[in-house]
Amino acid sequence: MTTSPVSPSLIATLPGRYYTDPEIFRQEQEHLFESMWFCAVRAGDLARPGDFRTVQVGRESVVVTRSRSGGLRAFLNVCRHRGARLCTEESGQVRRTLQCPYHAWTYDLDGTLIAAPNLIKMPDVDRVAYGLIKVALREWLGYAWVCLAGEPPSFEETVMGAAVERLGDPAAIEHYGTENLALGRRVRYDVGANWKLIVENFMECYHCATIHPELTEVLPEFAEGYAAQYYVGHGAAFGDHVRGFTVDGSEGFERLPDVADDQDRRYYAITVKPTVFVNLVPDHVILHRMYPLAADRTVVECDWLYAPQVVESGADVSKSVELFHRVNEQDFAACERTQPAMASRAYREGGVLVPNEHHIALFHAWLLERLGSAG
Ligand code: FES
Ligand code: FE
Repeated sequence: MTTSPVSPSLIATLPGRYYTDPEIFRQEQEHLFESMWFCAVRAGDLARPGDFRTVQVGRESVVVTRSRSGGLRAFLNVCRHRGARLCTEESGQVRRTLQCPYHAWTYDLDGTLIAAPNLIKMPDVDRVAYGLIKVALREWLGYAWVCLAGEPPSFEETVMGAAVERLGDPAAIEHYGTENLALGRRVRYDVGANWKLIVENFMECYHCATIHPELTEVLPEFAEGYAAQYYVGHGAAFGDHVRGFTVDGSEGFERLPDVADDQDRRYYAITVKPTVFVNLVPDHVILHRMYPLAADRTVVECDWLYAPQVVESGADVSKSVELFHRVNEQDFAACERTQPAMASRAYREGGVLVPNEHHIALFHAWLLERLGSAG
């Protein structure tokens, strides 16, 4: 088999094995998902003390809970006695404690070991030392971000910095007040594709004219193939006849109170590496969180967030949800169509990036550097 040389205006992609090889996925788990800040849970989903949610972060299960003092806490979901999984449900609520279903060791919501059958006969057991293993946690945009690294990287630089880099202004994302918005809809997509195919797809709009008829109707410049992410600070303008970011261009909701005039009637997209996409439009925010589960499987949770009064009033959000829900289904179908071919000999040396996809090469360079420097 021969391959033709890549022409100078084209850049090679990663080779196919980066999307299929379990060993590369394992390295990504270790050096990306377990080393960087990972967006785990929407804080509002854990409203009451004792609410918990478990999430897969790299190779670890992490439990995030709301403590009695009101703060969020994250722990490795592993009992310190003999290692049983502590919370076996994906989400739920406990009254005051987390109790292991195996021998009933019991931890308070701050992770301290508070009871164990017969422990009274073992007074030398240090209840703090045998508490749950804490995981670093920060809240931003109304989400709990966790980091398994012994020394977490700067949250300001590696997470918040993505928004500054994309929007060109540290205050720009604050105008949407995302942390105060309410959940209007959540859709969970179980995608049969490598997480990087989903990132690469999100970063480019070369495909928009082919697969996103509704989106290009609302954002006509997307039909040209240049993604909103291509230029710093650029938001894609709504078409002249478009009244709102909805599936049929009909009226949306009132502009969020602090969104600036120059942000009005525009769509901004931010990729927070490795697993989050933030989409900003004047009247709502759409936030995607990925949970990469295997080289060829990624669960994506997508939240549509609105002003609290919109959700409380019971307003019909279906037209604005439907627009990006269709975009998601169109994108994920494209990723699933691509995934099997990653193992083909035709893609052994990868494919190419055309000029308006060249910024994807920066993502590849970033990935290779992280995997390389970590190894
Ligand atoms: Fe949890 Fe024994 S493994 S109490
Ligand atoms: Fe798309």
